[in-house]
Amino acid sequence: MASVLFVCLGNICRSPMAEGIARRAAVRRGWNDLVIDSAGTSGHHAGEPADPRTVAVLRRFGADFPHRARPVVDADFERFDWILAMDDDNLAGLRARCPPLRAGRLALVLEGTGGGHVADPWYGGPRDFDRTWEVLEPAIDAWLDRIQRG
Ligand code: 4NP
Repeated sequence: MASVLFVCLGNICRSPMAEGIARRAAVRRGWNDLVIDSAGTSGHHAGEPADPRTVAVLRRFGADFPHRARPVVDADFERFDWILAMDDDNLAGLRARCPPLRAGRLALVLEGTGGGHVADPWYGGPRDFDRTWEVLEPAIDAWLDRIQRG
């Protein structure tokens, strides 16, 4: 059974978007036992639902799911095969607390499509949230191909 955790700062904008994309993609692939979750390097928004702007995009694509924000916990480094960060700040935060033997499972989510960062849409408008979906969707599809190949 494979598992993937998406990580951003607050776990209310980008990583829940990524989780919804991955959940929809897994269903479409008939992949029932892929474990998919998301978390934030900050616990500042813990317990909150996804940002309404993220929810609006997920709904539009039929990818909405129940979500409550949570911070990354130490057990995540044991539990997940892949921990995919949205940007270098998130990745640095993960590296700082990941046991060295587990560091190989940390990566940037956009490595799936050649690299780069998922820009933080928090201070942006609806177009920025559309853009978040547009960059994440093909990258996550590529990651699921890779994880499925094993
Ligand atoms: P996320 O977006 O990391 O994609 O969930 C943000 C959410 C909240 C804040 C920043 C980014 N904030 O500063 O509260």
